[in-house]
Amino acid sequence: GDATLPDRFGRPLRDLRISVMDRCNFRCPYCMPESTYHENFRFLEPKERLNFAEIIRVARVAADLGVTKLRLTGGEPLLRPNLPDLVAELVLIPGIEDVALTTNGVLLDRHAETLRAAGLHRMTVSLDSLDPAVFARMSGGRAQLAQVLTGIEAARAVNFPGGIKINAVVQRDMNDAGVLDLLDYFRNTGIIVRFIEYMDVGNRNGWQRDEVVPSRELLAMIDARWPLEALSPAYRGEVARRWRYRDGAGEIGFISSVSAPFCGDCSRARLSSEGQLYTCLFATAGTDLRVLLRETSDDARLREALGRIWRKRDDRYSEDRAAQRAGAADAKIEMHYIGG
Ligand code: GTP
Ligand code: 5AD
Ligand code: SF4
Ligand code: SF4
Repeated sequence: GDATLPDRFGRPLRDLRISVMDRCNFRCPYCMPESTYHENFRFLEPKERLNFAEIIRVARVAADLGVTKLRLTGGEPLLRPNLPDLVAELVLIPGIEDVALTTNGVLLDRHAETLRAAGLHRMTVSLDSLDPAVFARMSGGRAQLAQVLTGIEAARAVNFPGGIKINAVVQRDMNDAGVLDLLDYFRNTGIIVRFIEYMDVGNRNGWQRDEVVPSRELLAMIDARWPLEALSPAYRGEVARRWRYRDGAGEIGFISSVSAPFCGDCSRARLSSEGQLYTCLFATAGTDLRVLLRETSDDARLREALGRIWRKRDDRYSEDRAAQRAGAADAKIEMHYIGG
């Protein structure tokens, strides 16, 4: 592949995040608040979503342009019928070294084994709290914490080669008091817990800056309980800052896109379930690849289109936000279309 495709700031395209399903069986208020995503909300029709052959075409062309890492997201990706069939094909694409899945874990008990058999490399489970009441509030009250924990156990039992991570979004006065409990539960399990600063994604979560708990605050609290030492990044452009417990109990991480934006190395593109390509999590517009996918079987044209989109990319929303330059606050793509 063409491993050097640079955007306007010289950043290569390395990472494609593929949303396979706009629906979710949770209603996390920071992502899909019930007030908007009620029973009359119009989600995509199945035929509006890219089919597996179309997703695979995009992934193959992206791999040709330098992508080595794929992540399947949602909404909730395990709501997509026959997802393991897609995984089985994606892991075979030349150049693809890493295929991961982000899930809320509720259906994981049922699917862990087939995903492992399909060749999925690793798994990230979103879990914000181990307190059932807080969990219910942060996930919209539709799911049981116990089901998620069972799902994580099932995933652990099948031994994904790249392991399991837990992502927790931290909101002040919501789940910040449960941070140590969450860590305690996963210490010595090999599962890496990462805390994400609550972000102003989409337009519907009513984000307030004072609800963000800066990572440095959590770090100080955690270090006081279990002393930590910094690890160096596993790869250029890694989103999380990694730390290890000095007592050998494992690794944790912080994703600090509000207090310490990481746009400088951002090599991620996002494909929505309806085939829009976005070059930033906070984009206000994407490029429709579905028309192209459905009008031509010529991959050269697709490759040209992708290359053109990436070369003109100049996104750096989080850095602009930090510098108070962020604009267009009411037109961002919603998170459940592109999976975070
Ligand atoms: P690893 O490859 O396991 O390190 O994970 P990842 O870098 O793919 O991160 P993951 O998909 O687990 O992302 C976790 C969360 O970080 C996402 O759900 C987002 O909330 C946030 N995040 C990931 N990528 C970006 C990004 O490009 N920009 C911003 N602002 N946030 C991001
Ligand atoms: N801020 C930070 N992370 C978010 N996610 C969803 N919405 C937000 C937000 N507003 C994360 C979820 C999950 C992933 C899909 O995106 O917690 O880990
Ligand atoms: Fe669903 Fe994840 Fe959004 Fe929660 S954060 S509503 S689990 S897509
Ligand atoms: Fe990349 Fe946009 Fe996130 Fe910056 S804000 S790291 S450019 S996705």
